[in-house]
Amino acid sequence: MMVIEWRGKPVWILRRTPEMLATLKNLESKLVDPRSQEPQQPQYANNEHRSLKPEYLVAVGICTHLGCSPTKAFEAGDLALGADWRGGFICPCHGSTFDFAGRVFKDKPAPTNLEIPPHSYLTDSRLLIGSDTGGQA
Ligand code: FES
Repeated sequence: MMVIEWRGKPVWILRRTPEMLATLKNLESKLVDPRSQEPQQPQYANNEHRSLKPEYLVAVGICTHLGCSPTKAFEAGDLALGADWRGGFICPCHGSTFDFAGRVFKDKPAPTNLEIPPHSYLTDSRLLIGSDTGGQA
């Protein structure tokens, strides 16, 4: 996972393993907005993995509750999060939790999924944050 700064905000770039991607399945009943119906992502990221490429999550790392920065909680079965925890992120401020696609779990204070910024791939290994047209108007 890399963290870069965009418009003064941390943006996470997480290379998700096949195991991480598998954790995104069958979580619908536990998530506030499993199908990303709130406008928290560009249209091209309105899918199960909330990204252009399934392997890479690109998300603004700011909690949608009051703006703290969630931290990694990648270990499944994390002692603090319970045996059914599959891995994701936790906000240390008031305990909101998010899966590996930045989708928020129910019964937590954060109201919406993490924001996915506009982005595009210039090449397979170069990512442009802030433009979904590769910098073209
Ligand atoms: S700021 Fe993240 S849970 Fe409150």
